[in-house]
Amino acid sequence: MSSGRPVRHFLRDDDLSAAEQARVLALAAELATNRLARRPLDGPRAVAVLFDKPSLRTRVSFSVGIAELGGYPLVIDAGGTHAGRGEAVEDVARVLSRQVAAIAWRTFAQDQLAAMAAASRVPVVNALTNEFHPCQVLADLLTIQQAYGRLAGLTLTFLGDGSSNMAHSYLLGGATAGLHVRICAPAAYWPSADVVATAAAIAGRTGGSVLVTADTAAGCTDADVLATDVWTSMGQEGQEGARSEVMVPYSLDAAKLAAASAYCRVLHCLPAHRGQEITAEVIDGPASLVFEQSENRLHAQKALLCFLLEQAAG
Ligand code: CP
Repeated sequence: MSSGRPVRHFLRDDDLSAAEQARVLALAAELATNRLARRPLDGPRAVAVLFDKPSLRTRVSFSVGIAELGGYPLVIDAGGTHAGRGEAVEDVARVLSRQVAAIAWRTFAQDQLAAMAAASRVPVVNALTNEFHPCQVLADLLTIQQAYGRLAGLTLTFLGDGSSNMAHSYLLGGATAGLHVRICAPAAYWPSADVVATAAAIAGRTGGSVLVTADTAAGCTDADVLATDVWTSMGQEGQEGARSEVMVPYSLDAAKLAAASAYCRVLHCLPAHRGQEITAEVIDGPASLVFEQSENRLHAQKALLCFLLEQAAG
């Protein structure tokens, strides 16, 4: 039943204010220790989870999470629908939002996701686009909070493809949490200027900061968290050679970890390519939190769905 309030969506990291992000992370921490504490989808009510790109972690964590919230995960591969044959995204939204409580969509262009949200009567969640991966960064923030007991004032450095969805989401989500976010990338792969400017404005309000640099020493020195991701994202196949050539100096290796703070933790959203963007020694070493990070997709997305459904209920 509609509350008459505007439907809240989570399309980019800055769709949550700093207070809302803190509230979602606090609930995620609670759900990590008591997985069945919240049952807003009891009935069960269905949540549609649509995939236009491959996935393991997102598929599993949304499916398990929706079930644990009392609901039914309706996982749809776009290749098995009319979406791949040109059905209007607005029509997909209208059909789904008469039958499901929320929609999560992994797709290519952010503007298509925004079009879906504009036509939807239920919350729409970004399960990864070319531009942003905000559910992953919510999980990463939970992981950092679990490791350090806090977020504001810590320094997180992302190494590698600074123009990627993960870099953009670290900028917006990290700045919202009051982190000092450093993007350390070759100059040809720096983030969108718009995203950097938005992140800097958010950081100005939260006490964080933003730095974009090609200098690995400036990027890594005294960092509390070092993060990376694949050098060639989904949809960029064919660019591997050119990307690898310039990104080798940004590989997350033991030397960069040694330059960081003594307690520095390592994140990678997976899947990983050992020997490329991260060495086996680092990802399989004691500083690595990558599997905690992977599990935290479950807790963070459940908390996010609780928040969005509460907003919808009024
Ligand atoms: N990190 C992440 O989104 O993993 P999947 O692509 O397997 O969902």
